[in-house]
Amino acid sequence: MKIIMLGAPGAGKGTQAKMIADKYQIPHISTGDIFRANIKNGTELGKEAKTYMDKGLLVPDELTVKILLDRVAQADCANGYVLDGFPRTIPQAEVLDKALNELGDKIDYAINVDVPDENIINRMSGRRACLSCGATYHLVHIPPKTEGVCDTCGQALVLRDDDKPETVKNRLNVYHEQTQPLIEFYTAKGVLKTVDGTRDMKDVFASIVAILG
Ligand code: AP5
Ligand code: MG
Repeated sequence: MKIIMLGAPGAGKGTQAKMIADKYQIPHISTGDIFRANIKNGTELGKEAKTYMDKGLLVPDELTVKILLDRVAQADCANGYVLDGFPRTIPQAEVLDKALNELGDKIDYAINVDVPDENIINRMSGRRACLSCGATYHLVHIPPKTEGVCDTCGQALVLRDDDKPETVKNRLNVYHEQTQPLIEFYTAKGVLKTVDGTRDMKDVFASIVAILG
């Protein structure tokens, strides 16, 4: 099963993608997590990506597409995957489509996690992320068992550099301009499913499971 998560920054794509990956035993692939791991490790890719991410801008398609295509070609992706944060532009979606086409394959579901802009800023300021395993928490809604420590891997939790309110506003603008058109793109392909992302994360997940079966 090949799944794409769509939605604004902070809609809960990562939260739901992790739950999908666990239930259906497929890899969770987040381009944002890949970039953050590279930033943490001080790679050239990380240095370049950071200059865009800190401003709330998208990393250029040339860089992003290559990383993603390399990742989905790995053996653990043979039975499918859940993509979180990719594609984010029409050109990225077209490249993915073409690559899958050449393999006689296609995306099965594009899940649009719908959350209005008003709810987003509050979610982002409360988010704490684990840069080691990619787990995400919220100070109020989804707190870790021990304050400041990841439940899964025990590493320290941090406020992401791009979660400052000013940067979040830029990310929302970029989302509406460059990523929202993908809703039309996947509707036209007949694979778009929208879920109300404002509800409790367990209820959002139940709606997604009802779609995926
Ligand atoms: P990325 O890491 O993908 O960030 P994003 O799309 O902005 O999305 P977020 O990770 O911020 O939000 P999310 O939807 O995953 O929400 P989460 O589950 O954490 O990308 C970062 C940057 O990398 C981009 O800005 C860009 O520069 C670059 N980049 C990445 N991919 C790229 C690409 N393909 N092309 C170009 N550039 C790219 O939830 C948010 C918070 O809410 C958490 O605290 C969570 O605990 C809480 N929460 C979740 N669900 C609920 C709920 N139902 N109720 C209450 N709280 C909830
Ligand atoms: Mg995320």
